[in-house]
Amino acid sequence: MKNPPKAPKRLAVLVSGSGSNLQALIDRTEDGTLPVDIVRVISNVPGVYALERAEKHGIPVKVIPHGQYANAGEFSQAILEELLRCQADIVCLAGFMRILTAEVPLAFPGRMLNIHPALLPAFGGKGMYGHHVHQAVLDSGTQFSGATVHIVTEEPDAGPIVLQKIVPVLPDDDVESLAKRVLEVEHEIYPQAVKWVAEDRLIIKGKRVAVKED
Ligand code: GAR
Repeated sequence: MKNPPKAPKRLAVLVSGSGSNLQALIDRTEDGTLPVDIVRVISNVPGVYALERAEKHGIPVKVIPHGQYANAGEFSQAILEELLRCQADIVCLAGFMRILTAEVPLAFPGRMLNIHPALLPAFGGKGMYGHHVHQAVLDSGTQFSGATVHIVTEEPDAGPIVLQKIVPVLPDDDVESLAKRVLEVEHEIYPQAVKWVAEDRLIIKGKRVAVKED
């Protein structure tokens, strides 16, 4: 007898800003190439465009303003409670600009992902977010940047790397032009990496990640 079809995995997305990566995930779920249900979008900043994008697509949103909590631990606890309440299987940080304490990634081992706008392990860690990353890349003189999807662990930007894609840094780039080129590849690789997690295809050994054949 055939096994009954499995329910799609439940994805929660954490955002702080424009939400173009969230949009890429929504688009791939709607065109059927990403087999997950986006069950919640959580923002630590009220009024951001990512929330509007979610609402346009009928996805329930929750705002958890970090400033209302005494410290990162209490804020992280509130985030964790919401993730458990919506019964998320997979969690994506998509332009989420706060560092969460260890209990959050520990609750989703191998199932919490982040997208970073550079080629980790270079240009990551504390203070390396958004335009700071692209400025550091330009200041370094490197001729290549890119995007990285990695598993979230206790140490910021240091978890196992799932997928990367390279873009050139051009001589006349500024932060804006480089960010735009990097974002384009972010939108390709994030849905792909989430798909692998949803299909239970990642084999994680220490820092190294392999992908099982389809
Ligand atoms: C993206 O470039 C993402 O990689 C970066 O912020 C931008 C958010 O864009 N994230 C970080 O820097 C996290 N360390 P989006 O809101 O349009 O997806």
